[in-house]
Amino acid sequence: PQISWTSQDVELGGYASFYEMELAAGAEALSQTVASLVDVDGSAIMDALDVDPFELKRIRKVVVVGAGTSYHAGLVGRFAIEHYARVPVEVDVASEYRYRDPIVDDGTLVIAVSQSGESLDTIVAVREAMAAGARAIAITNVVGSQLARVADGVLYTRAGPEVSVAATKTHLAQLAALELLALWLGELRGVLFPEEAIERRRALGEVAQAVGSVLEQTEALGATFRELASSQRFFFIGRNVALPVAMEGALKLKELSYLPAEAYAAGELKHGPIAMLDREAVVVALVPADRLRPKALANLEEVKARGATLVAVVAGEDARVTELSDVVVEVPATPPLLFPFVGVVPLQVFAGTIARERGLDLDRPRNLAKTVTVE
Ligand code: G6P
Repeated sequence: PQISWTSQDVELGGYASFYEMELAAGAEALSQTVASLVDVDGSAIMDALDVDPFELKRIRKVVVVGAGTSYHAGLVGRFAIEHYARVPVEVDVASEYRYRDPIVDDGTLVIAVSQSGESLDTIVAVREAMAAGARAIAITNVVGSQLARVADGVLYTRAGPEVSVAATKTHLAQLAALELLALWLGELRGVLFPEEAIERRRALGEVAQAVGSVLEQTEALGATFRELASSQRFFFIGRNVALPVAMEGALKLKELSYLPAEAYAAGELKHGPIAMLDREAVVVALVPADRLRPKALANLEEVKARGATLVAVVAGEDARVTELSDVVVEVPATPPLLFPFVGVVPLQVFAGTIARERGLDLDRPRNLAKTVTVE
């Protein structure tokens, strides 16, 4: 029989949707971004940033703004910037920041994260902060976008075009750009020795392989997650750097499956949300290999005791996590701050699988636009 190909089949290269194709390109997006911002000798390539390093050295506060998935990247970036550069960081959704009469002066650095570079709220937040004296750096995937033109400097993510409304590969690229910016700020401010920064950049390069190994499990993960597609309520929990990962996992699921999915700081469960847990609930817990592991385990026990179905995304092998969980997704153990790179990928697969099982359009979810250029 004759096989007929539409132009979309060709573009999709065998994938059933752009979402799945772009998700699969996460490691590539990450490594391309790192390659464009790190020299062969491991030093940072930040010339394209075009912001006076002496000004950056003097900043007293960083504010990260963004919307949706880009906001979540900012929440992850906060940990890296505070850790490496020892400068206080605020993170806000752009639509809130622009209206809250924020305290801004010439000691403020605004980092605006936007895949499209065209989200109106993000652009306005930057404009207003700049008018109050702040310096601004854009992190965007689109060359020449409005945000790139408005900001003082720009770091481009090199994820390639993203068609699916729900962001996947660009998120990994955003995380990489933020990590590299944090390391550079750390060097500029004399907190990090150059050799240390080089070592961290090498570790970031290596995480692309770890992401690749998670992506290789996509099919197997899908087969496991499929069984949860009829559930009606989902919770995502994490602590520290895993909390924004939980938030992104919940957002992906809401966007694609239209199901109620909420993220909570795991330590906050007992202050309210745990009242919602019962046998019908699915709880996805993020468990990095860090000093908070014992705390995370205690949360898994709380969840299990309420009879909820427990899915654990755990860094490295862990017998106790396996014992407690209904589904275990093991991701490679990375340096703790890099957990979000490997932790978010199974959640992107999770959302895609649930939506596909429910017969929904992965690329064009209802009510959503890829880029929101209005208020
Ligand atoms: C829209 C999209 C989201 C995206 C957000 C921010 O709401 O549906 O997927 O995360 O905008 O977009 P940006 O281009 O600024 O990253």
